[in-house]
Amino acid sequence: MRMLMHLLFVMLGVVTSGLLVQTQFQSGFISIDCGLPEGKDYTEKSTGINYISDTNFIDSGVSKMVSSEDKITHQQQFSYLRSFPNGMRNCYKISVTSGTKYLIRASFLYGNYDGLNEPPQFDIHLGSNLWDTVKLTNASQSSYRELMHTPTLNYVHICLVNTGNGIPFISAIEFRNMDFNNVYKTSGATTLARLAGLDFGSFTNLTYRYMDDFHDRLWEPYSNDQWAQLHNPINNDLPSRDYELPISVIWTAATPRNANGVSLDFYFDALNETTQQQCYFYLHFAEVQKLAPNETREFNITLNGEDFYNLLRPGHFVNTIFDPSPYNVFYKNNNISLVKTEASTLPPIINALEIYQVKDFSQLETQQDDVDAITNIKKVYRVTQNWQGDPCAPVAYMWEGLNCNFNGTPRITSLNLSSSGLTGQIVSYISKLTDLESLDLSNNSLNGEIPDFLADLPSLRVLNLHNNNLTGQVPNALIQRSSEGALLLRLGQNPNLLCESALCDQQTKDKSKKNNRVIYVLASISAILVLLLLVLATVNIIYIKKRKPKNYFKVHKEFSDQTGSQLESKRRRYSFNEVSNMTNNFERVLGRGGFGTVYYGIIDDIQVAVKMLSQSSVQGYQQFLAEVNILMRVHHRNLTSLIGYCNEETNIALIYEYMENGNLEEHLLEKNSRTRLFNWEERLTIAMDAAQGLEYLHNGCKPPIIHRDVKCTNILLNENFQAKMSDLGLSRSFPVDGGTHVTTVIAGTPGYLDPEYQVSNRLTEKSDVYSFGVVLLEIITGKPAILKAVEGKIHISEWVKSMLAKGDVKCIVDTRLQGDFESSSVWRAVEIAMASVSNKSSKRPYMTDIVTELKECLAMELARKHNSCETMTMSLATESESSSLASSIMMFFWCLNKERNKAKTILNPSG
Ligand SMILES: *[C@@H]1O[C@H](CO)[C@@H](O)[C@H](O)[C@H]1NC(C)=O
Ligand SMILES: *[C@@H]1O[C@H](CO)[C@@H](O)[C@H](O)[C@H]1NC(C)=O
Ligand SMILES: *[C@@H]1O[C@H](CO)[C@@H](O)[C@H](O)[C@H]1NC(C)=O
Ligand SMILES: *[C@@H]1O[C@H](CO)[C@@H](O)[C@H](O)[C@H]1NC(C)=O
Ligand SMILES: *[C@@H]1O[C@H](CO)[C@@H](O)[C@H](O)[C@H]1NC(C)=O
Ligand SMILES: *[C@@H]1O[C@H](CO)[C@@H](O)[C@H](O)[C@H]1NC(C)=O
Ligand SMILES: *[C@@H]1O[C@H](CO)[C@@H](O)[C@H](O)[C@H]1NC(C)=O
Ligand SMILES: *[C@@H]1O[C@H](CO)[C@@H](O)[C@H](O)[C@H]1NC(C)=O
Repeated sequence: MRMLMHLLFVMLGVVTSGLLVQTQFQSGFISIDCGLPEGKDYTEKSTGINYISDTNFIDSGVSKMVSSEDKITHQQQFSYLRSFPNGMRNCYKISVTSGTKYLIRASFLYGNYDGLNEPPQFDIHLGSNLWDTVKLTNASQSSYRELMHTPTLNYVHICLVNTGNGIPFISAIEFRNMDFNNVYKTSGATTLARLAGLDFGSFTNLTYRYMDDFHDRLWEPYSNDQWAQLHNPINNDLPSRDYELPISVIWTAATPRNANGVSLDFYFDALNETTQQQCYFYLHFAEVQKLAPNETREFNITLNGEDFYNLLRPGHFVNTIFDPSPYNVFYKNNNISLVKTEASTLPPIINALEIYQVKDFSQLETQQDDVDAITNIKKVYRVTQNWQGDPCAPVAYMWEGLNCNFNGTPRITSLNLSSSGLTGQIVSYISKLTDLESLDLSNNSLNGEIPDFLADLPSLRVLNLHNNNLTGQVPNALIQRSSEGALLLRLGQNPNLLCESALCDQQTKDKSKKNNRVIYVLASISAILVLLLLVLATVNIIYIKKRKPKNYFKVHKEFSDQTGSQLESKRRRYSFNEVSNMTNNFERVLGRGGFGTVYYGIIDDIQVAVKMLSQSSVQGYQQFLAEVNILMRVHHRNLTSLIGYCNEETNIALIYEYMENGNLEEHLLEKNSRTRLFNWEERLTIAMDAAQGLEYLHNGCKPPIIHRDVKCTNILLNENFQAKMSDLGLSRSFPVDGGTHVTTVIAGTPGYLDPEYQVSNRLTEKSDVYSFGVVLLEIITGKPAILKAVEGKIHISEWVKSMLAKGDVKCIVDTRLQGDFESSSVWRAVEIAMASVSNKSSKRPYMTDIVTELKECLAMELARKHNSCETMTMSLATESESSSLASSIMMFFWCLNKERNKAKTILNPSG
């Protein structure tokens, strides 16, 4: 026996190393490790399979890791998983070759990744059809589902569906090309679930797959007390040529333990008692013994007592027995028997068995042109709804805003993206939805002209473009169809649309608004002309001092309302249960503050920060209410948006938009992989963003709002490093008349606190200006508000003052900038900052002034970077956003002036 085992292992070694050569192939393999972070692709050690991250196949879900014990005891692809706490259906979209037969495997290892020790149950769909219900009972046991499927389209959706029994997840997805040698034939184009791949007579108890199986089918050992194990003593021509079965599987067989045994019996249970099921059986046989001339092995095969195959004599080549039509199985105790015939001297054997179950995949997927079109529409308009998987089917998960026709291949008949925050033009992809009957794009911010193709959609009966910003002429064909009564057309509230007919019903109501706009435009054009003339006429104007654009706030308010509209719809009150779900049970802490802890969360794929109020502080509760009251009515692109809140007995939470890049202080004072060293232009942009947020609080809100806790840690940066003021918890609205307000509690952060306010308890907007001045000094110097000096602690404003007094101005600017900035821009910023931190509030500028000044600073820095007035005019022409347009204009003047001064110096060298 010892000899035997030894021999076996030696031979296995040979077999394995012989197959090693094939690792480089893995042709037709798609091996996806779900949850694996991007860029961490690897080769799994025991199989040699190359796994890739799933990030390019899905845009929802969160990456998680199994417990460390489960990580050690499983193959590497089980370490990570993707979990789907949000949305009913989350789908992978995987590109494949249509018409190719694939073995598709989905694997699951719960591994207590969420610490709840409750393995979930959920459904898995392939495209528009239910694949299986995944019920996991053992946290440490991996589970998989295999499907033999021939996609008809060039992609496949694999969807995880929440059925209310826990959060769906998935560990790995694998595609294996099974289009070889015309094997696994079935009657009709059928999708099969691979219920079993059994390896009889295994000596190793190992589950075999790639590299043993070139096609990476899974083969599980299967044995029984009454069976003996046989194996082929020599490695001859065993491998099957058709089914390409692995040697390690086919060279062992089971036989009755009793040498006189006449039959080998086993049975299996079907998975589902309720539905009639059909199965295909593939039985693989190969003689494993050297037979003497007077010996024979012959047997009949029966299935539940019926003949399946008679008089089988296994040869040395693999013989696969199957019936090309499916077999109806019972729910329980389906018997397979191999019965020795009278002529046989040896008992029956079996080497391997596969069972495939016919799946009812009759629900067709949406027509591919429609899918391509709607997918592109989703991409262009960045639709945030849960648009995943097949758009139409199954009906229960049809994309929100769509309607479909299910006569034959599903087609999209209705698209409703009303009030979805759409911007840009009406995209031509819509023309590909040729069965469209109803299109509703109302209440968005679409611009550009109404495209002609809309009139070419043959079935279109409803077209609603109400309340957008469309321009140009309405295509005649549309007007015609509408007047014929074939089309219900709504075009109202598009102020710049040239539309004479009665279609534009509400156009007249907007007349006054439209005129206002015209006046604005005219006013600004003439203002520019006058200014240009002034500049040209005199060479002495240096800057446009204290210019206060009249329509400035208007512009911003419109802009902010627009960007906020997507979040607006989500803004609401949440239950504690929902808060707990969105934070995955308060899993990830983003930070801790005076109010409590801030957690990371997700609502419908939108990342959020959830601030939990510590229950102990009563002061905290009042601040909370103040914050809710304020934030609910304040909206600006430079203020963090409040998405929702929770106020359930003692559980109080605020849900904000998530600011990916943390706070300004980290970036200014810390150096690590998360932080970034900002250049001068970026610093100015951040300062300007924050200033605009404050300015909005002071001037754009009625009554005005004082922030009261302006500091670098309250300036947060989003994924684009756009700065937003946060934490308005200390803010209090105060009445306009009187202008000041006596408060009882002095609140704020040391180093940023207005000295006058500390003495007088009189709170004005100038207190925020003081704090902002300190922030600006930090931005310029890269030093904290309170510095440690030889003489002890010193306030940053004192330090800058002392440096200025010494004439040591170079030292003030953050040395990490390495002099890469326009000096006059920095000095101007220093001036603004120092004016802002004046002890007397009357000497401090208003936020409006600060914004204007900072814009000029930015213009100077940009002018240096562009380095000539030609590029400047170009950028002036291409800039579109209103605020940068303003700064471009500033820059233009500054540049013009600089050139003139240069000219002056050249002409007049003595002066
Ligand atoms: C779960 O599976 C592991 C590994 O297969 C096994 O060791 C353990 O006994 C199982 N636990 C239960 C409760 O079945
Ligand atoms: C395989 O499993 C059987 C039963 O589970 C056990 O009796 C046998 O010792 C195992 N063989 C090996 C090589 O682990
Ligand atoms: C059996 O299949 C039916 C229909 O597909 C399904 O509703 C039922 O839940 C399944 N039962 C089990 C035990 O899986
Ligand atoms: C086959 O022949 C061998 C001798 O060559 C003999 O020992 C054996 O019993 C025979 N077996 C049968 C089943 O006749
Ligand atoms: C399978 O065999 C068992 C025991 O011999 C028997 O009880 C059972 O009814 C058989 N099943 C079928 C479907 O015939
Ligand atoms: C095996 O099948 C053959 C041919 O149908 C039949 O004659 C024979 O009786 C069967 N033997 C047994 C043991 O069922
Ligand atoms: C589109 O959806 C909005 C709100 O969801 C609804 O008011 C409107 O009637 C819908 N439009 C059509 C054409 O069904
Ligand atoms: C509407 O479009 C015009 C240009 O066609 C633009 O000037 C204006 O700012 C736009 N209005 C809104 C609210 O987007």
